[in-house]
Amino acid sequence: MIVKQRLIFILYSLCASVFKGSQGQFPITQNVTVVEGATANMTCRVDYNDNTSLQWSNPAQQTLFFGDKKALRDHRIELVRASWQELTIRIGDVSLSDEGQYTCSLFTMPVKTSKAFLTVLGKPGRPEITGFTKPAMEGDIITLACTTSGSKPAANIRWFRNDKEVQGTKEVNATGKSFTVRSSLQFEVDRRDDSVAYTCSVEHVSLTTPYMTTEVLEVHYAPHLEITHSLIIPQEGQYFKLECVSIGNPIPEPVLWSKDGGELPDIERMIVEGRELTITTLNKTDNGTYRCEASNHLGTSSAEYILFVYAKDFPGPTTDPNALGQHGPDHALIGGVVAVVVFITLCLIIVLGRYLARHKGTYLTHEAKGAEDAPDADTAIINAEGNHVHAEEKKEYFI
Ligand SMILES: *[C@@H]1O[C@H](CO)[C@@H](O)[C@H](O)[C@H]1NC(C)=O
Ligand SMILES: *[C@@H]1O[C@H](CO)[C@@H](O)[C@H](O)[C@H]1NC(C)=O
Ligand SMILES: *[C@@H]1O[C@H](CO)[C@@H](O)[C@H](O)[C@H]1NC(C)=O
Ligand SMILES: *[C@@H]1O[C@H](CO)[C@@H](O)[C@H](O)[C@H]1NC(C)=O
Ligand SMILES: *[C@@H]1O[C@H](CO)[C@@H](O)[C@H](O)[C@H]1NC(C)=O
Ligand SMILES: *[C@@H]1O[C@H](CO)[C@@H](O)[C@H](O)[C@H]1NC(C)=O
Repeated sequence: MIVKQRLIFILYSLCASVFKGSQGQFPITQNVTVVEGATANMTCRVDYNDNTSLQWSNPAQQTLFFGDKKALRDHRIELVRASWQELTIRIGDVSLSDEGQYTCSLFTMPVKTSKAFLTVLGKPGRPEITGFTKPAMEGDIITLACTTSGSKPAANIRWFRNDKEVQGTKEVNATGKSFTVRSSLQFEVDRRDDSVAYTCSVEHVSLTTPYMTTEVLEVHYAPHLEITHSLIIPQEGQYFKLECVSIGNPIPEPVLWSKDGGELPDIERMIVEGRELTITTLNKTDNGTYRCEASNHLGTSSAEYILFVYAKDFPGPTTDPNALGQHGPDHALIGGVVAVVVFITLCLIIVLGRYLARHKGTYLTHEAKGAEDAPDADTAIINAEGNHVHAEEKKEYFI
């Protein structure tokens, strides 16, 4: 019994030593990824080691550390931990050129090695938007370009017009080990681009939140004027106001008012305040064409209003001379709709009439049939009466 236990113990020890000595003795490393400028820890472990030396070497096969002894003069490389089980070194202020395959060697016979790939991410520079000179003129074709350099791998650029994403054209150039990425947007600016924010967003694996840069466009455009009026049917004695509504950038100012091609009559009832023309009490003598005009450096625009003063307590005209142009199509539309409705109604009446006429005929046939098919007179009457119920239903249709 004791002999047997001893035998097992010896066998076990043998196996354990064999395992420790050869198969169990190997270095283990892991790939490391760091952002440029950060510190990379390179760890090499040996779980079972019979006091065999460990070494780290760089991609150029230069020895960095042999056990706890520094072999390469580089103040960025320091020892973190050295034991028979572990050799960890630290590379500070990592640059893109530090990237590559590092080797941990265990000096057994033969030498066993493990490779660890150090990946260095290049952080993209803050993006810059170029190609816009403030202000742009409506109709100009502009090319906004957003550029970021120094990223590795190449950064991704996205464009947003206010908050809506728009597609740009990407261009990537390699500069050394990193990339310069540019995304361009080319478009014709119009007034709707005025005050619009174009944002360039740079996304990269090394950034927790994207870098963003915004350019707010300023677009100059020629004026456009319109006159709004306070009353649809101006009548004598009423208070009346015209407003010259203008858009344009720069704002077209001043607004000049005129009547029938000349200056406004110099009467107290007529007050001009910037874009507003007020007539405190309308008079028939106020009839005429009123015009407002304004300019900016891109052009001049004007609008006209034909004032037609109706008598006091005028029952109300059906047309407004100023509305004719705008509301003409509306009348046509209403006329068209009415015509269509009338047409459909007529069609329905005809179809319905024909349908009822045909069913009346069917009913009569049924009545006759009911009477004929009956074996005797009584049944004929019952059949006829049964159909009579239908006849009454039909009658209701005809009312
Ligand atoms: C490297 O190791 C040091 C200490 O050993 C630790 O403070 C640091 O966070 C480690 N760096 C990385 C990138 O793991
Ligand atoms: C390993 O080294 C330690 C001291 O560093 C020593 O005590 C031990 O006996 C050595 N083991 C072997 C297997 O050489
Ligand atoms: C380490 O990186 C290298 C090179 O990128 C790759 O081929 C290898 O599969 C990686 N190993 C692990 C364990 O991720
Ligand atoms: C890429 O290189 C070309 C040719 O040198 C140059 O014209 C272009 O502007 C560069 N693009 C970027 C994004 O640097
Ligand atoms: C309209 O103007 C004329 C002449 O200016 C004046 O005689 C008349 O009383 C005015 N009518 C009204 C309703 O104010
Ligand atoms: C102004 O228009 C009204 C409506 O047609 C007309 O009765 C009146 O004579 C006009 N007055 C002038 C001065 O034209």
